[in-house]
Amino acid sequence: MELEKIYTEKTSLTHRKEFAQFFTPQPIANIMSDWLLGNKSLKTVLEPAFGLGIFSRTLLSKLDNLKIKGFDIDETIFSKAKAYFKSQKNVSLKLEDYMFNDWKNKYDGIICNPPYLKFHDYDNKQILQEVENNLKFKFNGFTNLYTLFLLKSIFQLKKDGRAAYIIPSEFLNSDYGKLVKEYLLKTKTLRHLFIIDFKENVFDNAMTTASILLLANDKNNSEINISTIDSKSDLQLIDTYIKSYPKGRGEFTFKLNDLDPNIKWRKYYQLQNSINYKNLVPFSTYAKVVRGIATGANDYFTFKKSKAKEFSIPKGNLKPCICKAKDVKGNFFTESDYKNLVKNNELVYLFDGKNSTNKNVLAYIEKGVKDKINEKYLTKCRKPWYSLENRPPAPIWVSVFNRDGVKFIRNEANISNLTTFHCVYPTNSNLFSKVTDDFLFAYLLTDVAKEIFSDNRREYGNGLKKFEPNDLNKSKILDLSTLSESQVDRILALYTEYKKSKDEKFISKIDEILRTEFANAKSHTHLQFAPANTTPKIAKEYAFANATN
Ligand SMILES: C[S@@+](CC[C@H](N)C(=O)[O-])C[C@H]1O[C@@H](n2cnc3c(N)ncnc32)[C@H](O)[C@@H]1O
Repeated sequence: MELEKIYTEKTSLTHRKEFAQFFTPQPIANIMSDWLLGNKSLKTVLEPAFGLGIFSRTLLSKLDNLKIKGFDIDETIFSKAKAYFKSQKNVSLKLEDYMFNDWKNKYDGIICNPPYLKFHDYDNKQILQEVENNLKFKFNGFTNLYTLFLLKSIFQLKKDGRAAYIIPSEFLNSDYGKLVKEYLLKTKTLRHLFIIDFKENVFDNAMTTASILLLANDKNNSEINISTIDSKSDLQLIDTYIKSYPKGRGEFTFKLNDLDPNIKWRKYYQLQNSINYKNLVPFSTYAKVVRGIATGANDYFTFKKSKAKEFSIPKGNLKPCICKAKDVKGNFFTESDYKNLVKNNELVYLFDGKNSTNKNVLAYIEKGVKDKINEKYLTKCRKPWYSLENRPPAPIWVSVFNRDGVKFIRNEANISNLTTFHCVYPTNSNLFSKVTDDFLFAYLLTDVAKEIFSDNRREYGNGLKKFEPNDLNKSKILDLSTLSESQVDRILALYTEYKKSKDEKFISKIDEILRTEFANAKSHTHLQFAPANTTPKIAKEYAFANATN
């Protein structure tokens, strides 16, 4: 890691972020290299996202007659790597994009910590096309560069070849990961999947939890092992599994057909909270979650009082909006909270210039063109480019990133929101429905709701959790319509008390009512965690009970 340490100290974070340069810790590089070395005929090795070549250095320190090829697209890091490997004729380095080169070659070993770049940080369409043409497999547009690296590498494995990849775990539990999981199952190459969920970050500065995938293009393809690794000391376990391959089994072992690519794979390695409750329905029964307004250029579109004055924009062209998560403190956002933000000159408006003939508005639009705001990724797709997405203010907001469970806010000020919150639109609220907006919101404040939602979260490392709108839409909710009138009245009365006093004890009481009413008799709460002596088979059965629930 010494090379990487010096490089990190000397190179700006902006540059490293641009190329997604987060380096693999040495203990992890050792484990991944050992997997490749388990292939006794290992001769040719590919390192697709070379960086400073930590994997190649590790491999060569254990076996020196390897022929290695490496790719990187960043000239800065490339020149440093080239200098380091100058005297090693068996290491050939290419300053080329891995995704567009080398499709014809196959290797005995491929080892990689690919760049984690979101889809619009790179030319998604062209790369996707390249992958689809070569793999003869259709992906549905949205994906992530790191999964495309993985798919290409699987394609480039020789018979009996082995690959080791370290990537964020997000693909296991997100929509875009479905086709990746499908491809892993189709090619029958995945042998071990390790979900690393340390309390501390695996990579400095990168907010991700990681997965290590060990793949082989050999005949031992009937089972897939999935294991969770909670601490650095647990890394030794991986070593044991590698040494005993193909016999060694992970924490949970599955037949290929047991794994469904269409569901979140968390269900195969974590027990679900929702097992503790009965009468669950999809959250979409009661509400629809959509993301907040994306402007594509917040600096241009958001306004505070002083900026409105500076450009003399009339009130009618400024839509009241919450722009920053920090501006919302409690669970209720009232009109007076909003007025305070305006008074304190916070960002509270969105510029809405559509159909305006006001000369100041037109001048501000012209300024946008001069500053090339109309050529940005999102604005260039809108007509006109300065129009806003058409989203009515949502009665409830939900925060996108969370540390202590998902957080809902009642938008009593009836204003719009940017993407720091998602919009929650209740679907069931009519005069005759028991489940009014307030009643639904009372439920959303409880720990029961948080527990059940957390089954569908995405983890970003360092305790940070994220929910995309569809993670929430597909989550479960207690079927509130099964409660009696008197229970509903009692809950609403407690909610009113809470609203007045902000005393959490009232929410705890609602929580108690729901836990009693919806307790699942078949599963006692102590089953929330697998007993210490759980064998993979039993754990798997728990998982299936949930997966099909
Ligand atoms: C996450 S770093 C990994 C570096 C090193 N292998 C390690 O594990 O420490 C990813 C590397 O891939 C390079 N990279 C980014 N996009 C690439 C591409 N399209 N083709 C090849 N390399 C790329 C980056 O410059 C960076 O050095």
